[in-house]
Amino acid sequence: MREIKVFVPGKIIIAGEHAVVYQKLALATSIGLGVKVRVTSSSKTEEIKNDEKGLIKAAVEIAGGIDKVSVFVESQLPIGSGLGSSAALAAAVIKGVKEFLGSTITDDELFQMTFEVEKIAHGNASGIDPATVIYRGLIAYRKGEPFERLKIKTPIKLLLINSGKPQESTKEMVELVGANPNKISIIDKVEKVVLLIKERLVAGESIQDQLDENGLLLEELGVVGEKAKQISSLLRAIGCGVKITGAGGVKSGSGMMIVVCPDYSKAKKLLDNRGIKYFETEIGEV
Ligand code: MEV
Repeated sequence: MREIKVFVPGKIIIAGEHAVVYQKLALATSIGLGVKVRVTSSSKTEEIKNDEKGLIKAAVEIAGGIDKVSVFVESQLPIGSGLGSSAALAAAVIKGVKEFLGSTITDDELFQMTFEVEKIAHGNASGIDPATVIYRGLIAYRKGEPFERLKIKTPIKLLLINSGKPQESTKEMVELVGANPNKISIIDKVEKVVLLIKERLVAGESIQDQLDENGLLLEELGVVGEKAKQISSLLRAIGCGVKITGAGGVKSGSGMMIVVCPDYSKAKKLLDNRGIKYFETEIGEV
């Protein structure tokens, strides 16, 4: 049976999530893990039955594949944990269905369609997730403007920690920020620190303190839960810079966190002793 296979990577937001919804600059990079999709010709679309948020169905529909294709999904990304699972899933399904039906699709067309589908998961979305997973690499993004591709001198090591799956959807977290009466002043501070991180990244300088400042501003915005705050203060006490990446969550987990440290062996020991799992990765590696 004829089939098309597509891989789309996930992403991490280095700085500026939530503020980016309000036209502020944010920085993000694609990562090695992602979503694999296989499209075949049978019309019984099993995956659509397990399509909690209706994303797969919406993606198949926008790509013109309803009743024409079957879609099978294999995701390496924890769902709803800040690594761009919704955008990667939607983009992979749209690309796979389009290719299966014999049409070519440019990255710009794929971005527009994925952005439409992603609004189901994000509500008032900025488009940073689809932009990062489709155009790939390290980008500076402002809603409604062409993105800027960044080159950095020295790759920056970081740890990725999972603080637990958020109970809330990205849409709910975006709405929570919308209801914060102090959001405008906090978001202005976020943008200042994001601009500094961009300069320092490009110059090959440490971003640890600025990343931490962004992390504390996200706590002020009200998107960081107790568990993530506890992990953050333990890591801050040994000199690391810590922030959540993505929409966050407050009822239970806050999804993925990124950590930059002066001494990684100390940080890893601390995490190992408390049974907190982490991955090591690099910005600039993709
Ligand atoms: C989610 O990865 C990033 C948010 O800023 C939402 C968005 O920009 O669409 C929370």
